[in-house]
Amino acid sequence: MKDIILELKNVRKSFEAKQIHNGVSFHLRQGETVGLLGYSGTGKSVLLRSIIGLEDIDSGEILYHNNRIDQLSEEALFKVRTKISYAFQSGALFDSMNVFENVAYPLFEHTDLSEEEVEIKVDAILNLVAMKESKRLMPSDLSGGMQKRVGLARSMALSPEILLYDEPTAGLDPVNVDLILEIMKKFKSAGFSGIFVTHDIPAALKVCDRLLILKDGVIHFNGTPQEFEESQDDFIKTFSNSDN
Ligand SMILES: Nc1ncnc2c1ncn2[C@@H]1O[C@H](COP(=O)(O)OP(=O)(O)OP(=O)(O)O)[C@@H](O)[C@H]1O
Ligand SMILES: [Mg+2]
Repeated sequence: MKDIILELKNVRKSFEAKQIHNGVSFHLRQGETVGLLGYSGTGKSVLLRSIIGLEDIDSGEILYHNNRIDQLSEEALFKVRTKISYAFQSGALFDSMNVFENVAYPLFEHTDLSEEEVEIKVDAILNLVAMKESKRLMPSDLSGGMQKRVGLARSMALSPEILLYDEPTAGLDPVNVDLILEIMKKFKSAGFSGIFVTHDIPAALKVCDRLLILKDGVIHFNGTPQEFEESQDDFIKTFSNSDN
C-alpha cells in the first residue's frame, strides 16, 4: 500500500455556536483520489480550507507527511500551499491577466524559473487542459467551462502533490464535465492525489478510489465506490438516490 500523505485526526471546527466539524478523521494515500460528498452546508468547503490553513481548526490534527500543518505560521503555510493546492469553487482568475499570465503567475511568484522555462511549463499545462490555443484570451472571453479549466491549470502550475478540487464540475454541461474529469484522471495517473468535493455522485464514482460522506460533522461513510453503491445504510441509500 502507498504511503499516507495527508491525515486528519478528530478535527473539530465551529463558527460561533455552530458546530461544523465534530471529529472528522480520514486519510489520503499517495496517488489516491478521494471524493468528499455531503448535503449543502455540511462543511465540505470549510474542511478543504482548513487543510490549507485558510480556516483555523478548534482541535484535532492535520498531518502532511506525518508533520502537523494545522498550527503553522503564514510563512510556513505559504510553502504548504505549493504542495497542497486548492482549486477554488469559482476558478478565481485574475480578470486583468490573460490565460497564459494567470497560469504563469504562481510560477513567477514561487519559483526561480526563467521566462523561457515558465513558458514551456505553462504551455504543457495548458495543453493538458486543452487551452493552449486560447492562451492569449482574457478571462472575460472564456466560457464557464474554459474558466474552470484555466483555474485548474493554475492550481496545477507548481506541480502540487495534492489537489483539492472544490466542485470543479458544478454548473457545467456534460461535455465540459467530462473534460474536467479527464484532466483529473490525467493528474491522478501522473501519481498525484486529490480530494474531490462534488454534488455529482456519478462523476465521483467515475474518478474516485474512495468516497467519504460528511454528515452531522463526522465522516459517516468511508468506502470504495462499489461499497457506496451496495451500502445498506439508510442514510447512504437516501443520499445516493437524492439530488443532494
Ligand atoms: N466564515 C464563516 N463564518 C461563519 N459561518 C461559516 C463561514 N464559512 C462557512 N460557514 C458555515 O459553515 C457551514 C459549512 O459551510 P461550507 O461552505 O463548508 O458547506 P459546503 O458543504 O461546502 O456546502 P456546499 O455544498 O453548498 O458548497 C455553513 O453553514 C456555512 O454557512
Ligand atoms: Mg462548498
